[in-house]
Amino acid sequence: MRSPVRLLAFVVAAVFVILAIRGRQAQPQTQKQPVIQQHAGAGHRPAAPAADKAAEKAPAAKSHGGWGGSYLHKAADKRLTGQLDRASKASPLMKCTGDLHIFKLSADELGRLNDGAAANRSTLGPMITGTAYRMPCRYESETEAAATLKDSCCPQTVNFRLGTTDFKVFQQVFQYHYMRYLYTLFAEEPPQYILDAGANAGFSSMLFKLLWPNATVVSLEPDPSNFAMLKANTKQFKGVHALNAGLWSHAANITVTTTEHGNWGRVFREAGEGERGMPAYSVQDLATLLSIPAFDLVKIDIEGAEGMVFAPGGDFSWISEAKVVSMEIHDYFGSYFGLEQDQVSRRVDAAFNTTGYQIASDNEHVMYIQPQHMEAVAAVLTKHAAEAAAAARAVAKERAAAFTAKKEAAAAAAAAKADQAP
Ligand SMILES: *[C@@H]1O[C@H](CO)[C@@H](O)[C@H](O)[C@H]1NC(C)=O
Ligand SMILES: *[C@@H]1O[C@H](CO)[C@@H](O)[C@H](O)[C@H]1NC(C)=O
Ligand SMILES: *[C@@H]1O[C@H](CO)[C@@H](O)[C@H](O)[C@H]1NC(C)=O
Ligand SMILES: *[C@@H]1O[C@H](CO)[C@@H](O)[C@H](O)[C@H]1NC(C)=O
Repeated sequence: MRSPVRLLAFVVAAVFVILAIRGRQAQPQTQKQPVIQQHAGAGHRPAAPAADKAAEKAPAAKSHGGWGGSYLHKAADKRLTGQLDRASKASPLMKCTGDLHIFKLSADELGRLNDGAAANRSTLGPMITGTAYRMPCRYESETEAAATLKDSCCPQTVNFRLGTTDFKVFQQVFQYHYMRYLYTLFAEEPPQYILDAGANAGFSSMLFKLLWPNATVVSLEPDPSNFAMLKANTKQFKGVHALNAGLWSHAANITVTTTEHGNWGRVFREAGEGERGMPAYSVQDLATLLSIPAFDLVKIDIEGAEGMVFAPGGDFSWISEAKVVSMEIHDYFGSYFGLEQDQVSRRVDAAFNTTGYQIASDNEHVMYIQPQHMEAVAAVLTKHAAEAAAAARAVAKERAAAFTAKKEAAAAAAAAKADQAP
């Protein structure tokens, strides 16, 4: 009875080995002609905590000068970047640390997940659902949702695929606060219409809805598996249009070029005639399709397809209407698109060249801030600076008082000692 089972097992194993070898051989060919892709909503991958080191070592990042290698980062206004960083770190939302609690996990596994390590796949299914406590949110209370914005931390249901970059993306957004400049940039007036291009598993869209419950968020993700997660992670919100589609310079069908950079690095190209693909849209197409007057916040993290979105001759009318455009720029994926070194950055630069936007560098994201919007931001920064200065003065005053009190006590003690002396 056993041997037929063994024989069957052997045959199945042999077929797997053959398929695996063939798959390997076929792979290099698939990398020939690239193109797009979208990725993690998470923005920035800075010199991150140790747990994230593995993610920093993506092969493409190494060979092309790193995630933050764009010269546009150097063009950023350092003073403005510093001010945004200080003001954002002072936000009460920084206290919301996205602590994960997942029913089926042991304390040990949970600890590793909270540290960004992979969970033990063998004890869990392919997808897990849990609760993240202390997520940033602005609900006054459950019942008067969004009536009054108030910074607080709330629990939130989250979904992950094991063995993918999902935990890392979650961690970047909610534990490391890679997108924290938004707390300051929209402190005065929430963005009403948001485009999240490269929404990945939905964590950036989730952040946007938690920060601005009334906003309409258009979330694009062309990879079907990422898109399923995006749907799962945004289904509890109203006003999220999740589209299984990419961002491109014009309406097109696109197809995946390489998966070698993991779930957060899918690269796409335009499909040939008669070839099947995912739909892709321009920013303007999306606004028209969904009757959106203009996107206030545009987040673009699309694995090099920025080079296509900002290709010369495109319709860039949306740029001057956006208050903030936050982009991860992938010069190191340029070759997939037939672009030269730095050409992705140069295309972005040229598209923004005449608009008078200020640039801040938020780790791997380059943020363009509209001149009109900069007035509101400046007011927030001035207010923060005044508060910080007042707080510093109060601390100094307290220290001085403590110092004086200590000196007086010491003098009194010395006097008492002198009195006791014979
Ligand atoms: C994963 O779980 C299996 C089954 O409980 C266990 O045998 C294995 O040691 C675990 N691996 C790790 C790395 O914790
Ligand atoms: C959100 O929308 C609701 C319903 O339209 C409105 O009552 C509320 O004031 C809005 N909240 C904010 C902060 O804009
Ligand atoms: C995308 O493909 C569909 C079906 O193959 C086709 O009808 C459509 O015209 C294509 N769209 C574009 C923009 O090429
Ligand atoms: C941007 O504008 C400046 C001044 O008009 C010009 O010197 C520069 O070459 C432009 N850069 C790009 C990338 O077009």
